[in-house]
Amino acid sequence: MGTLDNKSAIITGSSRGVGADTAKILAGEGAGVVVNYRQKAPRANKVVKEIEEAGGRAVAVGADITQHGDVQNLVDAAVEAFGGLDILVLNASGGMETDLGEDYALRLNRDAQLDLMRTAAEVMKPGSRIVYVTSHQAHFINDVETMPEYEAVARSKRAGEDALTDEIPALTEKGIEFVVVSGDMIEGTVTATLLNRARPGTLDERRSEAGKLYSVEEFAQEVAAMVTADVDTGHVELVGGARGFVD
Ligand SMILES: NC(=O)c1ccc[n+]([C@@H]2O[C@H](COP(=O)([O-])OP(=O)(O)OC[C@H]3O[C@@H](n4cnc5c(N)ncnc54)[C@H](OP(=O)(O)O)[C@@H]3O)[C@@H](O)[C@H]2O)c1
Repeated sequence: MGTLDNKSAIITGSSRGVGADTAKILAGEGAGVVVNYRQKAPRANKVVKEIEEAGGRAVAVGADITQHGDVQNLVDAAVEAFGGLDILVLNASGGMETDLGEDYALRLNRDAQLDLMRTAAEVMKPGSRIVYVTSHQAHFINDVETMPEYEAVARSKRAGEDALTDEIPALTEKGIEFVVVSGDMIEGTVTATLLNRARPGTLDERRSEAGKLYSVEEFAQEVAAMVTADVDTGHVELVGGARGFVD
């Protein structure tokens, strides 16, 4: 028996990176998992196959979360596949793309997150939980400067966190909890690699200031842990302690 038997979860952006590992961990704990992807169906299908081969339950659902119709389809797909929705991990993120319009970071990291949270809350039962994944660079952007290349993304993710946090009273009325998980730069990810390429030495600097940078798998373990952790709604988990941000 797993701790999440009979539960179902949507993890946005889970065809790769932190989302994919979080999906595998939650499925390993018994949850039926919706592996959401934007474009890369083969990658999402591979994650589903791995989960099924390990004895878990998963379906891949393509949805661009900046499109409301896709958001509704994503929530409907979870209900159809697993009979309900208990866990929503808001992991998908972006905004460093240059070809999707000036306001894309805000549309994805704030507006789409809020739309999905509200749409999911319509079907989530009391006792459900929504987890928002962010970075220390975004969580602390009002107090601590970040690299110019990441600043627009950081501000949009912080705006997203604030907009979602404002929903806590409405969620509490429905018995739904909200938790934020924030992490430092993650070894081996596309974002960290791009930022280090733009500013050589950035990763070494963060590694020495933080003491350690997490791998994708280690950070996913922290995200998955916050799905069931005994914390109050509104809790912000600063993974690794956020040295250099809190002191
Ligand atoms: N990377 C880091 O160093 C770091 C550090 C701290 C926190 N985090 C946080 O951890 C989370 C995951 O990071 P990551 O590095 O694993 O991400 P990633 O590799 O950049 O993957 C982002 C995921 O989001 C999906 N996505 C992007 N736009 C989408 C849209 N419009 N609709 C649906 N899905 C969309 C992508 O799908 P496609 O592949 O189809 O585009 C991809 O699967 C993010 O919230 C990030 O802020 C990351």
